[in-house]
Amino acid sequence: MRNSKIYLAIVLVVGLVLFACRHEILYPGGGGTGPLPPAAATCSPDTVYFVNEILPLITSNCSMSGCHDAASHREGVTLINYATISAYVKPGNASGSKLYKVINNNSMPQRPVASFTTAQKALLAKWINQGGKNNFCTAACDTATFTFSGAIKPMMDVSCVGCHSPSNAGGGIDLSTYSGVKSAAVSGKLYGSVAQQTGYSAMPKNGYKFSDCKIKQIQKWIAAGTPNN
Ligand code: HEC
Repeated sequence: MRNSKIYLAIVLVVGLVLFACRHEILYPGGGGTGPLPPAAATCSPDTVYFVNEILPLITSNCSMSGCHDAASHREGVTLINYATISAYVKPGNASGSKLYKVINNNSMPQRPVASFTTAQKALLAKWINQGGKNNFCTAACDTATFTFSGAIKPMMDVSCVGCHSPSNAGGGIDLSTYSGVKSAAVSGKLYGSVAQQTGYSAMPKNGYKFSDCKIKQIQKWIAAGTPNN
């Protein structure tokens, strides 16, 4: 009896520590669950990084509710982290990988989510052909850069648009255009959701929180009057 109480106490303490750590790490992109691999100090321009680029792309286009999130796992397929995504990847062989095949022939994602663009398909193929690794790098992020085209739109495209396009507008919000992002910003919801403030749905949904740098860029762009620059 005494032992089981001690055991319970240890489990609780370890659980709290793990929980606290998860919330302190600065995540690069959004999307995914579970522990992250160690981050390379710089991002090589020739390498495609799973955590930075592939994970947010897959989770925002494939793991929304009703599709391949843990709860729905349509057709028995869950795509939420490296372990579940890499199950459909043959390292070094994009054309032989189920994940690439169904995306490349446009059978996935299913409507209403749009098919991947040629550039997105090429990115996925490159990552698989480079070995489909669970890699991660610390992308340069400068809070002094906060233009719409240079900072805001790229973040939306990678981490948000899969669930927020005209054909699949989560919460009725479209983040695929300047005007859509602007109206979310003006309503206060864009900042509230990415900063994960109380009273807002935390975004990216089911994903890692944006880094403080990215959140700051969004905040500064909004404070500057949401310019289309
Ligand atoms: C996996 C799907 C998914 C992803 C990825 C996603 N969203 Fe959402 N989002 C939703 C859904 C669904 C809702 C509707 C409310 C809810 O279910 O929480 C929503 C709601 C919102 C709202 C309204 C929040 C509120 O409190 O009213 C904002 C703003 C938003 N998302 C912004 C974003 C941004 C910015 C990103 C990228 C960083 C993002 N979302 C990524 C699915 C997603």
